[in-house]
Amino acid sequence: MTITFIGHGYVGLVTASVFADLGNTVWVVGRDKKKIEDLKKGIPPFYEPGLEELVKRNIKAKRLLFTLDYKPAIPDSDVVFIAVGTPPNKTGDAELLGVFEVSENIGKNLSGYTVVATKSTVPVGTNKRIKQLIDEVKPKGTEFDIASAPEFLKEGTAIQDTLSPDRIVIGSESKKAEKILVELHKPIDGQFVLTNLETAELIKYASNSFLATKISFANAIAKLSELVGADGLRVLEGMGFDRRIGKEFLSPGPGYGGSCFPKDVKALIAIAKNYDYSFGLLDEVEKINGQARRDIVRKTRKILTDLNKKTIGILGLSFKPNTDDIRDAQSADIIEMLKQDRANIKVFDPQAMENAKKTINGVQFCTDVYDVARGADALIIVTDWNEFKELNFTKIKKLMKNPVIIDGRNIYNPEKIKGLGFTYVGVGR
Ligand SMILES: NC(=O)c1ccc[n+]([C@@H]2O[C@H](COP(=O)([O-])OP(=O)(O)OC[C@H]3O[C@@H](n4cnc5c(N)ncnc54)[C@H](O)[C@@H]3O)[C@@H](O)[C@H]2O)c1
Repeated sequence: MTITFIGHGYVGLVTASVFADLGNTVWVVGRDKKKIEDLKKGIPPFYEPGLEELVKRNIKAKRLLFTLDYKPAIPDSDVVFIAVGTPPNKTGDAELLGVFEVSENIGKNLSGYTVVATKSTVPVGTNKRIKQLIDEVKPKGTEFDIASAPEFLKEGTAIQDTLSPDRIVIGSESKKAEKILVELHKPIDGQFVLTNLETAELIKYASNSFLATKISFANAIAKLSELVGADGLRVLEGMGFDRRIGKEFLSPGPGYGGSCFPKDVKALIAIAKNYDYSFGLLDEVEKINGQARRDIVRKTRKILTDLNKKTIGILGLSFKPNTDDIRDAQSADIIEMLKQDRANIKVFDPQAMENAKKTINGVQFCTDVYDVARGADALIIVTDWNEFKELNFTKIKKLMKNPVIIDGRNIYNPEKIKGLGFTYVGVGR
């Protein structure tokens, strides 16, 4: 098939490249000249393992094409995917101006019959509004159907997730559109959930909000474990053996971050509010998440008594490992709180330094972990990158002013670290 993706972010570019690799001709439409020029040379605008190679391979095979213009892409496409960002606005609702703008542009360039499918995470009812917008601008004689095709990939494992998703959700009001989308997804190894627009839209928000709830639950249990003297990690492990509960997402830490969970929880609260339903459970999930970030700083403060002029090293800036994404990253909040305590802050991340330099100021960007450790009064592990797991602690202890480790991700064996002469504190331990 010939298909188009509008947007070349984590979702648009990864799914476009995977569909190209499966033999389709895939257009990617962007609006940033420099990024499109880079993409034509095979340079993605962000880091995702394996992506650059996949993009380059499919450019070479002439299956992956980049353009700033809708004209060469839309008329020939059987399916057009909307994959633009939907960040939260001031009220917590998803900002949909970008989605509506691109919908109009798609509509104006339609030819023959096209399926317009939304991959962006959008509130219930959005796809029906997209349909109205396209109807108003489409050229005479053209036909289209709308579909909701929410995306569930995870940054860091996005290619594998796209090739082998837990489920492929397709919401549609048209059997013809559904059939075309099923056909397109056939080479992908996943369980189909075929349903209507509203159900598909809500599945995405419900899934992300449930995962965020699991993380906040783990953090609440960790906090309680610290208070009652239980081993929080063993409690959560013990819970996870129950197949109805499952082990995943039961890890306490600095809370959830990134461009999806925080905004999708907010958006689901806002969606419910629009229908006069107060989703109080999710209010609490957000509250616990904020506490989890604050607790990291509170623990640091407790050990060092006063953070004024103390040097604090932050290991990890991205919201999770294997990505350079720092949107709503835990590190940003933690750094802000440390700044308010007048601490000197040194930071390092294996991939996110460039992005961080654009948004985080007043910190010292270091070249590696040991550079961060030099002269530090405490090291805080914010992101559980693999390369932080095996370090030369003898060297780190010598470099640090005060051998203190706040293990925000519980990646170290406390006894081992304490045995080396460090003051160690984890989460829930
Ligand atoms: N990142 C994830 O892990 C993930 C997973 C599942 C779903 N989603 C959802 O997918 C959507 C996209 O997320 P993302 O992480 O890829 O975002 P992103 O910020 O990485 O990329 C968004 C893309 O949209 C483009 N864009 C924005 N407005 C545009 C406009 N008006 N015209 C043309 N292009 C425009 C941007 O240039 C960029 O290429 C969001 O709704 C998000 O919630 C994200």
